[in-house]
Amino acid sequence: MLTGQHIILGVTGGIAAYKAVELCRLFIKAGAKVRVIMTEAAKEFVTPLTFQTISNHPVYDQLFIGSERFSVEHVGLAQEADLFVIAPATANTLGKIANGIADNLLTTTVMAAKCPVLLAPAMNTNMYENPLQQENLQKLAAFGYHLIGPEQGELACGDQGRGRMSEPQAIFTAACKILMADPFWQGRQVLVTAGPTREAIDPIRFLSNHSSGKMGYAVAETAALLGAEVTLISGPVQLEPPPGVKMVEVVSAQEMYEAVLDNFPTADVVIKAAAVADYRPLQQSKEKIKKGSELNLNLIPNPDILAELGKQKQRQILVGFAAETNNLRENALKKLKQKNLDLIVANNVLQEGAGFAVDTNIIQIFYRTGENKEFPKMTKQQAAKEILCAVKELIKKNPVY
Ligand SMILES: Cc1cc2nc3c(=O)[nH]c(=O)nc-3n(C[C@H](O)[C@H](O)[C@H](O)COP(=O)(O)O)c2cc1C
Repeated sequence: MLTGQHIILGVTGGIAAYKAVELCRLFIKAGAKVRVIMTEAAKEFVTPLTFQTISNHPVYDQLFIGSERFSVEHVGLAQEADLFVIAPATANTLGKIANGIADNLLTTTVMAAKCPVLLAPAMNTNMYENPLQQENLQKLAAFGYHLIGPEQGELACGDQGRGRMSEPQAIFTAACKILMADPFWQGRQVLVTAGPTREAIDPIRFLSNHSSGKMGYAVAETAALLGAEVTLISGPVQLEPPPGVKMVEVVSAQEMYEAVLDNFPTADVVIKAAAVADYRPLQQSKEKIKKGSELNLNLIPNPDILAELGKQKQRQILVGFAAETNNLRENALKKLKQKNLDLIVANNVLQEGAGFAVDTNIIQIFYRTGENKEFPKMTKQQAAKEILCAVKELIKKNPVY
């Protein structure tokens, strides 16, 4: 998600400094290059060795030392950064930044930085409510600093109230939003489907498939980070809803059909990553079917959601998925034409590192012209980015959408 991005993580002297370790790990895991600056007070709470190990780089903490790379460390670090995150941000450091004080490496580097700055305040409620602190925060917001939190809850000192640092995952999402925001996607309605459906046989048993929902969830999450208004219609999965996404939970193919059609008229882009069951039992027993010698299930076809959307579509971009085990190109292009899609994302689910349940995928994107783009094995987040990039290119080439 953040490959190639340079992030400075500033850590100041609050109890929540330990949570910044997890934040650092999330940035690294997402592919960012992270440089950590700690204040003297921060080192009272967490050792630089912890951040050094997680970020794979020595921690910066001294203003007055030479550097191998840059003659002036704070200027060099600031120039390199795409985003500056300070978490936790103490009352002291916030006050300094708001008033133009630069008396340590962290505050001096913030002053030299031209990139966006995201601040995650954390402090005791009384400190937070202090009018001087409130004025500082207002001033920082007015100067374009991004603020996240603090949250309401139990504080380290035992008090209840506002002052808890936002959770690392929430700060991570806010950082991704700042880094990834694309004006093209602002206000666009993206409808995504994900996961399997379950077709009931009786109150206990169902027919389903191996879809984990990971690909669709990655598409929904990425679209939201780019700035789109995302609705995710999901079958039963073991995944957390992506932040900032409107969720619609369904179970059967029929329910998914109805939810998709309800949301279709307002959608600009529809990405159908769900593995909808093609068939359902003709009859669903109201009671548990008892064990016997033989059981025959009569199956009838479920409504074909994609084909229906293909018929109804006006200005929408319609993207389908083809999970194939053979004749990838032929099957993908056939589905694309039959269902009146604009793009189809195909993968061979038998390939190692592609398809269901794994965190990676090996995709090819096919166009109506028969052209295609092949991609190497990548994370489902990276694949999601490529799919959304292909949609964007298509819309830009055809302003009618
Ligand atoms: C145990 C302990 C916990 C503290 N927690 C916080 C805190 O959560 N937020 C805060 O603003 N200050 C907190 N402080 C006070 C800061 O450490 C102090 O203001 C320090 O000067 C901050 O320096 P810095 O902003 O350069 O890191 C705490 C102090 C102690 C001793």
